[in-house]
Amino acid sequence: MKYSEIQNELKQRLKPKRYKHTLGVVESAEDLTRRFGGDVKQARIAALLHDCAKNMDDRQLLDMARAFKLPLDSVVIAEPQLLHGAVGAVITKTDFDINDPMILDAITYHTTGRTQMTTLDKIIYLADYIEPNRDFPGVDELRAMSEKNLEDACIFGLTHTIQFVLSKDGLVHPLTIEARNDLILQKWRK
Ligand SMILES: [Fe+2]
Ligand SMILES: [Fe+2]
Repeated sequence: MKYSEIQNELKQRLKPKRYKHTLGVVESAEDLTRRFGGDVKQARIAALLHDCAKNMDDRQLLDMARAFKLPLDSVVIAEPQLLHGAVGAVITKTDFDINDPMILDAITYHTTGRTQMTTLDKIIYLADYIEPNRDFPGVDELRAMSEKNLEDACIFGLTHTIQFVLSKDGLVHPLTIEARNDLILQKWRK
């Protein structure tokens, strides 16, 4: 499937706002890849498909996760939208025939993060946060940080996510804590 064909298919599947966000993530992922390294084509495909399961409801996400034997923990069962990353990776494989494990991992973990995040994981995680259509208190600070240091910007994003969830008395996924701790430890070891 050509890039433009994937684009057309996503335009059909996603709501206009989500599709616009997706194109913003592609743009930001491309910028970040030029700055911090990596394959631009790979980053563009991962970005384009990162929210391909975002049109699914909780029931559909859980059914799909069970059908493909994705790991289910108590947090994702309570908050099935967290599964749109892992389910999105399955759809990327089955519907779009993309099998690059780097791309599939970046899509899987864009919702939670993980330990030992690859450069592509970090770029997609961050691009999702800073794309031009995003507006939240702190986004300009995060954009400025993203121009300098990829890891610091990811730590900021992860901290922001955790703080937001805590402020709502919500559930923090363990991988998000692990991702943040891992990046901080790596920084301290330098
Ligand atoms: Fe997402
Ligand atoms: Fe997104």
